Amino acid sequence: MNPDRLTFIRKLPKAELHVHIEGTLEPDLIFRLAQRNGVMLPYADVDALRAAYQFTNLQSFLDLYYAGAAVLMTEQDFYDMTMAYLRRIAQDGVVHTEIMFDPQTHTERGVPIADVFAGIARAVREGREKWGITSCLIMSFLRHLSEQAAFDTLEQALPLRDQYADVWLGIGLDSGEQGNPPEKFERVYARCRELGFYLVAHAGEEGPADYVSAALDKLNVIRIDHGVRSEEDPALVARLADRRIPLTVCPLSNLKLKVVNDMSEHNLKRLLDQGLCVTINSDDPAYFGGYLLDNYVAVAKALNLDDADLVKLARNSMDARFPVFVSQA
Ligand code: HPA
Ligand code: ZN
Repeated sequence: MNPDRLTFIRKLPKAELHVHIEGTLEPDLIFRLAQRNGVMLPYADVDALRAAYQFTNLQSFLDLYYAGAAVLMTEQDFYDMTMAYLRRIAQDGVVHTEIMFDPQTHTERGVPIADVFAGIARAVREGREKWGITSCLIMSFLRHLSEQAAFDTLEQALPLRDQYADVWLGIGLDSGEQGNPPEKFERVYARCRELGFYLVAHAGEEGPADYVSAALDKLNVIRIDHGVRSEEDPALVARLADRRIPLTVCPLSNLKLKVVNDMSEHNLKRLLDQGLCVTINSDDPAYFGGYLLDNYVAVAKALNLDDADLVKLARNSMDARFPVFVSQA
């Protein structure tokens, strides 16, 4: 891409609305933390680990992603990981980020949930001061686990709510989609809604368009993470367009996890042209080969996006921030 175009995209004020903080853990940091914490890794070095990042589908990625996250033990580890991410996106013209984290990945290994919150929140607050990036947190439930496990996690987290009222604003749902439909989490989402959290959920990444409809109807989410398979249901596409329900699309993730075979086949532009509030996001940038700007560049090239498309995508991301941020603007 010519340097002027890259500068143009970099300078567009952009929000990232779909990123898993554990997915920002770069191989060199995985090795550093493993050494610091005395964790054995089944890879000789950083290059060997990176070479293992060859995925055939979502689950093949999740296996490595959970293994990588197992080096996170202390508050300082969560802080270091989050600071590295914020430092990186500050260079890309990202002005706002809504960060997902998976406490169950850590509490299952005996890490106190308070340490997970404390480390990530300390970095987020410092990132506001240091780089002027506004951000908040989306605590996400692992959908391959039970609804009861999600309720237990919510119970453990709620005593921390007041302390992190400025950062913890959202609830999300991630991990293996197929066979774990939104309905499985209907009651815990109803509780989170009563508690006043903003609700989002992954749907229509590998799972069918029906899961997107169910996330809207049963979970009352205000945004859909991924949602690319919505296209299979024209009535759903019309509904998403009419209600301006944002989709947080992750192009490099879709390519690496073989949701699409080639970036030129990605439906992002078609969805945008049908009036959907499509946004671009990085998902798990350390694993999928690029941060937010790289995702913009990859689709701009593969789908021949013009400047108006790029402006629209960046504007959509700002409009799709949690309402408290949009109303402050
Ligand atoms: N999909 C589902 N779960 C995830 C993802 C994803 O893309 N990344 C991290 N957890
Ligand atoms: Zn995701």
